[in-house]
Amino acid sequence: MSRREAVQIIDVAPRDGFQAVSTWIPTEIKTRTVQNLLNAGVKRVETGAFVSPKAIPQMADTVEVHSGVKRNTDQRLSTLVPNLKGAENAFTAGITDVVYVLSVSESHNKSNVRRPVAASLDDLNEVIARGRNQSEFKLRANIATAFDCPYEGRISIDAVSKVLEPIAASGIPVEFGICDTTGRAFPDQVAALFEHCLKHFASSDLTWCFHGHDTYGLGVSNALYAYEAGVRIFDAAAAGLGGCPFAPGASGNTATEDLVFTFHNMGIETGIDLASLMDAATEIAALPDVATGGHIRQLPRKRTV
Ligand code: COA
Ligand code: ZN
Repeated sequence: MSRREAVQIIDVAPRDGFQAVSTWIPTEIKTRTVQNLLNAGVKRVETGAFVSPKAIPQMADTVEVHSGVKRNTDQRLSTLVPNLKGAENAFTAGITDVVYVLSVSESHNKSNVRRPVAASLDDLNEVIARGRNQSEFKLRANIATAFDCPYEGRISIDAVSKVLEPIAASGIPVEFGICDTTGRAFPDQVAALFEHCLKHFASSDLTWCFHGHDTYGLGVSNALYAYEAGVRIFDAAAAGLGGCPFAPGASGNTATEDLVFTFHNMGIETGIDLASLMDAATEIAALPDVATGGHIRQLPRKRTV
């Protein structure tokens, strides 16, 4: 099998996954989940979110989870922030690896973070201004509804570009998380958007991640089209957890184990030990009230190695 360029997978189950679970997951279980993922060789984990505990009570213990795990120097933990206040709370807790979320579509931005897109962009400017003073500041900008919006339908490349432009012009390194929030992107659409972005916004300061959901069973295919377009960073969730509570009809993220299985069999390294990851995913799937997804977890283990 030929060797191809390796990828980095960010497991977002503890954030995108757990945020959708209404039954409280004890802090030690969340911590154990993150630790299991790190132990399986996952290089980056999104541990939680600095959001309003009224909006998403499940994320209230993010600081404890974040600080309760042991990681190697080449492993990163990040947390989501929906506004300046979230970023301030993260910085105060010593967390400077942040994922700022905003949507391309006005209606999703309003239902998710309760403000117009322009206001989210203004807040992001302020986050960047304050982040510059933090050591080890790392900004990831999650661009939600980049392909499809639950309220407005298809999203054009032009609309995405308009949101990316001011962020790309900020002059600091940014990792863009291009999110298929509803899981309704199609592979050719994914390839077209990334081809456009990598060409139009070509800069060594900008990196690109595909954040896919598997609502229509297209998560792995979409990721492969993103790979072919040049993307080397992917979000996924062990056991296929996930789903924005403000995106009706969306199901879980592409399962990390499905992506790892596919990449490895295509000669694309992830650095993740699939057997350990499957153990971690099995534990996650056994939690009460979690909506799971993915395919290879359902198969006999010997058929997945
Ligand atoms: N973290 C904690 N509390 C926050 C906060 C944050 N990031 N942002 C605002 N608040 C608090 C305010 O202090 C205020 O508290 P009070 O009622 O005790 O005075 C309250 O929330 C309302 O503040 P306001 O600025 O009016 O916020 P809002 O009600 O418009 O809510 C969000 C805005 C973004 C904080 C809230 O909608 C939210 O957390 N949404 C979750 C988004 C999300 O995670 N989606 C899924 C991932 S994509
Ligand atoms: Zn998501």
